[in-house]
Amino acid sequence: MELYIDDASISEIERLYSIYPVDGVTTNPHILAKTDCDPRTVLSRIRSAIKDDLLFVQTTSMDANGMIREAHGIIRLLGERTVVKIPVVREGIQAITQLKREGIKTCGTIVYSPMQVFLAAKVGADYIAPYINRIDNLGINGINAVKEMQDIIRQNGFSSKLLGASFHNCYQVQELCRIGIDACTLSPSIFDSLLGNPAVESAMEAFQDEYLSAFGTGNCLFDE
Ligand code: E4P
Repeated sequence: MELYIDDASISEIERLYSIYPVDGVTTNPHILAKTDCDPRTVLSRIRSAIKDDLLFVQTTSMDANGMIREAHGIIRLLGERTVVKIPVVREGIQAITQLKREGIKTCGTIVYSPMQVFLAAKVGADYIAPYINRIDNLGINGINAVKEMQDIIRQNGFSSKLLGASFHNCYQVQELCRIGIDACTLSPSIFDSLLGNPAVESAMEAFQDEYLSAFGTGNCLFDE
């Protein structure tokens, strides 16, 4: 499963890269607006920080021509290892179709329903991003919805990858790992919650305390 950071803070991106097995960074207009800096500058800094890893950037136009123009600008600025996120609405489907012809990588985004997945996959989106928590908030089980989406892709022989997005807890991520989703993008706080188990930390401290009381400080096994 590919794992992405859903954030635009350079310090957080560098911190998470130093700990976790990360494959790239995803952004959206909300995430960029939160940085309070020029989005082009922020995205260029992220590109330098993550080198050739995938960077996902969302268009903000409401019409297909605008989305296509933005996609060209995004690729010009950030290079070919960039995936253009296009909302899966009618105009977005037109834009994805055209960008596919041009060989530009796309991610169908703001995905709440299996039929959005079917259409985005059929026109060749490389990634498709269902918003798990937002689906849950509609009173629909987001995990089950993703399972249906995965079935649609597999049963139709599509090559699009599902990119789970919009997580509000570790359990939602765990369930998608269990079904073998292709990719997930997580906020820094969700990343940290994956290993944030106080019982594990207290067991680790208990091992250390017992060792130190038996052998004294400065006596770690195999310390140089
Ligand atoms: C992915 O990049 C999505 O835009 C993002 O995960 C949405 O998350 P939210 O529902 O917490 O805004």
